[in-house]
Amino acid sequence: MSIPIYTYDAIVVGAGLAGCAAARELQNAGKKVAVITKLHPLRSHSGAAQGGINAAFSDKDSVELHEFDTVKGSDYLADQDAVEFMCKNAPETIRWAERMGAAFSRTPDGKIAQRPFGGQSSPRACYAKDRTGLTLLQTIYEQAFRVGVKFWDEWYVADLIYKDGKVSGVVAFNIRDMEMAIFNAKSVMFATGGYARAYKINSNAHANTGDGLSIVARHGLPLEDMEFVQFHPSGLSGNGVLISEAARGEGGKLFNSLGERFMEKYAPSAMELASRDVVSRAILNEIREGRGVGPRKDAVFIDVTHLGREKIMERLPELRDLAITFLGLDMIKEPILISATAHYSMGGIPVNIAGNVRKNNSELIEGFYAAGECSCVSVHGANRLGANSVLEALLFGRYVGKTMVSEIDDIKLRVATQEDAKTAVHEIESLLHKNGHETVPALREELQQCMTANAGAFRTKETLEIAIAKVKELRQRYKDIRIKDKSKVFNTELQEAIELGHMIDYSAFIVESAVARNESRGAHYREDFETRNDEEFLKHTMAYMDENGDITLDYMDVVLGKHELKARTY
Ligand code: FUM
Repeated sequence: MSIPIYTYDAIVVGAGLAGCAAARELQNAGKKVAVITKLHPLRSHSGAAQGGINAAFSDKDSVELHEFDTVKGSDYLADQDAVEFMCKNAPETIRWAERMGAAFSRTPDGKIAQRPFGGQSSPRACYAKDRTGLTLLQTIYEQAFRVGVKFWDEWYVADLIYKDGKVSGVVAFNIRDMEMAIFNAKSVMFATGGYARAYKINSNAHANTGDGLSIVARHGLPLEDMEFVQFHPSGLSGNGVLISEAARGEGGKLFNSLGERFMEKYAPSAMELASRDVVSRAILNEIREGRGVGPRKDAVFIDVTHLGREKIMERLPELRDLAITFLGLDMIKEPILISATAHYSMGGIPVNIAGNVRKNNSELIEGFYAAGECSCVSVHGANRLGANSVLEALLFGRYVGKTMVSEIDDIKLRVATQEDAKTAVHEIESLLHKNGHETVPALREELQQCMTANAGAFRTKETLEIAIAKVKELRQRYKDIRIKDKSKVFNTELQEAIELGHMIDYSAFIVESAVARNESRGAHYREDFETRNDEEFLKHTMAYMDENGDITLDYMDVVLGKHELKARTY
């Protein structure tokens, strides 16, 4: 039976900030564009970004300081040309978002309000209370919809059509009834989000299963810097739900079981507003050394009570609600329990500044683009600064849309055929009919536990080798999976099985890239190599997977610039 083929000028996969911004640019320029998303767009994970979006606006700030903070925060692994591009264009991006209708919080004299965030020389995070991502997502989605972008909600992209070094669409199915379709286009953009769900405690949406990365990797294409996974200092104790850095930005203090404001030991100058990798390790270290709090002694306190009810209700209302809902603690009256939570993926699909996906260190792929958390441009290097991710998604999403507009007329459409969907259809059908002995929840649990224990904020060669062996074992056991639900109507068991396959694949990239990086840099902290080693490792990892799931590593130069390498202290 043949499956339908829908033809567009461009396909965007993912409807978060990057996807919606790119699609709007394309449609606005008269291109016919479809956004395919496995969620309703307003449930995209961009909407969970709470604290802010960076731009150097104020008299006390400058683009150069923003660049410097970003490069220092990245532990010098960020590409400085990309950082310069982002920081220079940040103020205009905020003004554009405002013109689109985003309602930012204001100062008493009517300017866009900005709050301090970690690792920054000046209050730079523009915000909308503690719902910045949601405000922006609602705005940009509405604008994309308004200009006529066609959204294919709750369609799951199963494969990229990539032939002869050229991309010409995707294969997807409708989650409602598993109707399959080919989406044929001159160009395709991935904006599919990050991969922190490989970890048991994480701040990510259930949907953040890194599908886009594994789909790309299965075509033999590289993933860059996958070993760099950010642990956010403040996830709610027990479940990792994000308590925004805004809580510390507004003055929140961290305490251990002895009542010590322990950041004095780790970052005497920046204290709670050191970069995220530094604060997360400090929290985990306090817990490891027996100074944790809470029923399991696996948390520390964050205290904002001194801010008072009025300020908390004005600036942090969502955070207060979350702590009441999940922990029964009211931050107006008492400190709440937090610990580090897997939060953000610095690595991803390698792209140049214009958003073209790299085939290897020197070649680009015609018609293929990526932006947002699934991509690695790389503006975050080894550790991202808070409020630079919303900026990256919005800014690069929009600029990649512009790149696509400018390149699309030079791309010849490769007309899709039924053959293009053969592999995806076969894989999904055989997965649906699996009657083995393993279940998706059990395998996923083992994967997440193993990644947290062995490839988390602290790693060694020994723990990473345990993780490598476990990922290989899970890959084998995945072949013996059982899908009990054989129906085609909202088959979430099947979808979770597909997602688990992706999680296993990209986890192999994380651990293999990490074991080879014999240094500590940013979020990648090797207890057996505690210092940064610029001589050997000032380079990006480029990892490739073969059909057996084996990973080979290559490296790519970092783009250096005016910000010279220094020791990183806060
Ligand atoms: O803490 C936060 O509000 C998170 C922001 C971010 O990851 O940029």
